[in-house]
Amino acid sequence: MDYKQGAYKVRDLSLADAGRMRIEWAESRMPVLMRLRDKYAAAKPFKGYKITGCLHVTKETAVLIETLAACGAEVAWSGCNPLSTNDEVAAALAKSGIEIYAWHGMNTEEFYWCIDRTIDKTPHLTLDDGADLIFTVHNRFPEKADTIIGGSEETTTGVHRLRAMAADGKMLYPVYAVNDAETKWDFDNVYGTGQSTLDGVLRATSVLIAGKNVVVAGYGHCGRGVAMRAKGLGANVIVTEVKPTAALKAILEGNSVMTMEDAAKVGDIFITATGMSDVVRGRHFAKMKDGAIVCNTGHYDVELNLKELAELSKDTRVIRANNREYTLENGRRVYVLADGRLVNLAAAEGHPSEVMDMSFANQFMAHLTLVQAHERGDALQPIVYDLPQELDQEIASVKLETMGLSIDSLTEEQVAYATDYAAGT
Ligand SMILES: NC(=O)c1ccc[n+]([C@@H]2O[C@H](COP(=O)([O-])OP(=O)(O)OC[C@H]3O[C@@H](n4cnc5c(N)ncnc54)[C@H](O)[C@@H]3O)[C@@H](O)[C@H]2O)c1
Repeated sequence: MDYKQGAYKVRDLSLADAGRMRIEWAESRMPVLMRLRDKYAAAKPFKGYKITGCLHVTKETAVLIETLAACGAEVAWSGCNPLSTNDEVAAALAKSGIEIYAWHGMNTEEFYWCIDRTIDKTPHLTLDDGADLIFTVHNRFPEKADTIIGGSEETTTGVHRLRAMAADGKMLYPVYAVNDAETKWDFDNVYGTGQSTLDGVLRATSVLIAGKNVVVAGYGHCGRGVAMRAKGLGANVIVTEVKPTAALKAILEGNSVMTMEDAAKVGDIFITATGMSDVVRGRHFAKMKDGAIVCNTGHYDVELNLKELAELSKDTRVIRANNREYTLENGRRVYVLADGRLVNLAAAEGHPSEVMDMSFANQFMAHLTLVQAHERGDALQPIVYDLPQELDQEIASVKLETMGLSIDSLTEEQVAYATDYAAGT
């Protein structure tokens, strides 16, 4: 481990050159974020602001971190999942002077040690994916909130928790729900999770997807993306849900729908994408076919009850990277990927750069909005805010432009028609 107090703790600094090339590759696929870097690098709107982040240390996150730094921010970072850090990228960031505490395979105690080191910096802004950083500030270092002007949250699970905290009146500073922006939730969670989850399953198993019964738990944004991509590879997709409208959408979009109780008996590959705990538990594992593959792509490792699986098992071994075989007392074998943590980040590289481009453009704009409001003296409430909808259209429009695509615009007559309540047939 390479460690310098107040500077970095990463697996191996000598990986930095390889990490730099990964970051450059991501930069070449993230034109919207790179445009923001170009636009604001001279004015440096974040000069004098310390931004502390807790978000998967991937090549795409490095592009965000270096964009914030290029625009004047002093940044300190930790990873938001023990298995999602890319050690090469972390080394490259440390070598280029970013304060970073992250390595692949850390334990829970080390995870919070890293977050604490970033809070040592006394940040002005926090940037979360899953809300671990903001909860650490609130629960253990509330005095640090005095100098924090605001924060942002990247994922569904984090936003749910923050809204619950705000409803209880417990939030100490305002937070932008980046997840809920259309150019994030409807793209990153759908197409990003869809592709990268299948990528994770394939890297950990190399099985044929065609002809398999793929059970997707949860038909929200992520689950719909996963189902779409599994179907594209030839799977028969079975959806489990708890929300009637989501189940209806799943069936009308060509999937089968059943309970997990029934799906457990017929599934070949199980992928949870709910944000809920205990979606697959002992009684489900006990019914699975020999050779069933089970993984999770929701934020926390609570969707698969691996404790109950272990209690049902007589033997376990790691059969290949990110793939653990459990032999049950009934003689059947079940394969759990990435210890039940987000399979797309632990076993693959997370979302493709192209889709993170828009998510991180939203993150950048959330922080810029907070800084600008602070400088104008606008008092934001300690609640969860949505980003303005116009921003979605602006980000999508730049994205289209960088893809070389043009779209139509409404004529004056069409605008008038759309609001003409006197018009009939
Ligand atoms: N892997 C990644 O990179 C990645 C990316 C984005 C979001 N996420 C995470 O994925 C999870 C889902 O996010 P989302 O944006 O799809 O949320 P969402 O709210 O759009 O969808 C979740 C769906 O799960 C369903 N559900 C809840 N409990 C269930 C249960 N017990 N059984 C079956 N279905 C159930 C809900 O009814 C809902 O339709 C969250 O934890 C989110 O933070 C992961």
